[in-house]
Amino acid sequence: MQTYLVGGAVRDELLGLGVKDRDWVVVGATPEQMLTRGFTQVGSDFPVFLHPKTHEEYALARTERKQGHGYHGFSVYSAPDVTLEEDLLRRDLTINAMARSEQGVLTDPFNGKKDLESRELRHVSEAFQEDPLRILRTARFAARFQPLGFRVCTETMVLMRSMVAAGEVEHLVPERVWQEIQRALHEHAPGTFFQVLRDCGALDVLIPELASETDFHAAMNALHCVHANNGSTAERYAAVLSRLDEHTCKARAKAMKAPNDCQQLARLATAFAPVIRQLDPVQPSADTLLELLEKADFWRRTERFSQLTHVLGCTLDPAGRHALEALGKAAIAASGVDPQTLIKQGFSGKELGEAIRSERLARIAQATCCTPT
Ligand code: CTP
Repeated sequence: MQTYLVGGAVRDELLGLGVKDRDWVVVGATPEQMLTRGFTQVGSDFPVFLHPKTHEEYALARTERKQGHGYHGFSVYSAPDVTLEEDLLRRDLTINAMARSEQGVLTDPFNGKKDLESRELRHVSEAFQEDPLRILRTARFAARFQPLGFRVCTETMVLMRSMVAAGEVEHLVPERVWQEIQRALHEHAPGTFFQVLRDCGALDVLIPELASETDFHAAMNALHCVHANNGSTAERYAAVLSRLDEHTCKARAKAMKAPNDCQQLARLATAFAPVIRQLDPVQPSADTLLELLEKADFWRRTERFSQLTHVLGCTLDPAGRHALEALGKAAIAASGVDPQTLIKQGFSGKELGEAIRSERLARIAQATCCTPT
């Protein structure tokens, strides 16, 4: 039995980057031998084990063959006669298909090291097409390594385009797509992820609303801005969908099965942008400002409100940003209203609600220099 370090750990070590997760492949062993050595088996699909002490993943060398469409349509063959090279052959990119033995010897049958040096993301073999998720992975690696000068090589882009044309991306389950998107949103150059998806046609399937050049670039500028401000996942996602109208955004975010906070923020941002653009920047309507605060559930969801203003700050034009400042002032002014004071003054029930509202309105009007309409 021989054990090798594989995949991302070998790649990152050769790039001189810190290694986070270490994955191992074991050649010449049976599941029984692994269990005897104290490993625990995880996952039912593949023969993967956890080391008794380090808890790192050790997978028995395997080959995979696709059966049918989608991510789960694989038949896995794992046996002591599967070689290291066969296991490396089933992998996605050459830079991810290198192994290092315990003695430190590098096995690199597909010239991954050369591709690392020439900064190319290249598929290992035609088997790349057997897993359409690899299109998103490749786009994600392009986003991660963009600052190092990596790009998707022409042959791989051609292959990805043919996979998209064959309808492969439609077979991906939203949960797995979301996992990739969520990770990509936090890579070094998240815009590159979407650019690669656009170049191969996958974006037309995943977010068809970004088909036009103008919408795509505006969305990417917004994403770039949120990224530069170190925004949350929800803020980044809302920036990507910021060019959609509220109705389309709601439907798209739901179809993509984004987490609730991402869906809600994206929808709010698209609902608020047109209203804020319509505000008079000199004398914004206090009624409209209060309605916006109510719609954002500002008093109960302060954190989400601040995320919303961050996103809008990245999606609006200068005039819109000016009006957005009025919303910020309105929020501060309205939060100064203390219901307890009004209760002490004898207000209760429906009247209390009305008194709170009119007090808020008055304060907003004062703070933003306008009169209630
Ligand atoms: N792999 C693959 N195809 C996939 C998923 C994984 O070929 N759809 C292979 C690649 O060889 C990859 C390894 O499995 O390097 C481990 O996968 P994963 O942990 O997801 O990726 P890493 O390359 O380790 O990258 P990251 O730094 O993002 O964890």
